[in-house]
Amino acid sequence: MKLIFLGPPGAGKGTVSVKAALTFGVPHISTGDIFRDAIRHGTELGHAVKDLIDAGQLVPDELTVDLVRERLDEPDAARGWMLDGFPRTIPQAEALDAFRPEDRVIDFAIDDAIVIARLSGRRVCPRCGASFNVVSMPPKEEGRCDACGGKLETRVDDREESVRSRIEVYRERTAPLIGYYERKGTLVRVDADRPAPLVLADVLALAGSL
Ligand code: AP5
Ligand code: MG
Repeated sequence: MKLIFLGPPGAGKGTVSVKAALTFGVPHISTGDIFRDAIRHGTELGHAVKDLIDAGQLVPDELTVDLVRERLDEPDAARGWMLDGFPRTIPQAEALDAFRPEDRVIDFAIDDAIVIARLSGRRVCPRCGASFNVVSMPPKEEGRCDACGGKLETRVDDREESVRSRIEVYRERTAPLIGYYERKGTLVRVDADRPAPLVLADVLALAGSL
């Protein structure tokens, strides 16, 4: 099972793909999570990408492709994977095609106004990566992660100016992938403007049919 999760920032890709990957026992690979982890640990990669990510800009293709290639070569990815937030540009998609083509691309279709509202309410756990929302998915205890008890934070790139540039970058550089995968015949769309359990149910049905 090799699935790509495509869609604008805040569409719910992370929320749904983490659970889908657990259900099917394949790794959930999020380039955004890998970069944030590197920033948190102060690694060389973290220093290289921090300013770009905080400003809502993309990390260069070559660096991102090399990182994903290495990750997909790890033994746990031999049976399949769920890629969340990669590819995000045509050159990234072409690179993936050349070394590990996908079975399906799930495009999370949703309006800008809804993603802006979701991102302003998002709170994330820096310890385990779980994602909550003060409006639609509040944690049981305010400010604490349900999964590990970590102190919830707001992502730096969920500030208004960064959100705006992430949406612009998505329209210019990532949305063309919808046509790319449509032509390739692997694209499936889900209506992401519904409660997360309904979106997840569609994704599980689709993945289960592969
Ligand atoms: P990344 O981490 O991938 O961020 P993103 O694409 O901007 O997506 P988000 O994580 O913001 O949204 P999501 O769709 O996962 O939504 P979530 O489930 O959290 O990338 C971050 C940065 O890293 C990029 O800007 C770039 O700089 C860099 N980067 C990453 N990959 C790269 C690449 N391939 N190339 C170059 N650079 C790269 O949900 C959002 C909120 O809504 C949460 O609060 C959640 O609780 C809530 N929610 C989710 N689903 C629902 C629902 N159905 N109903 C109501 N609320 C919901
Ligand atoms: Mg995400």
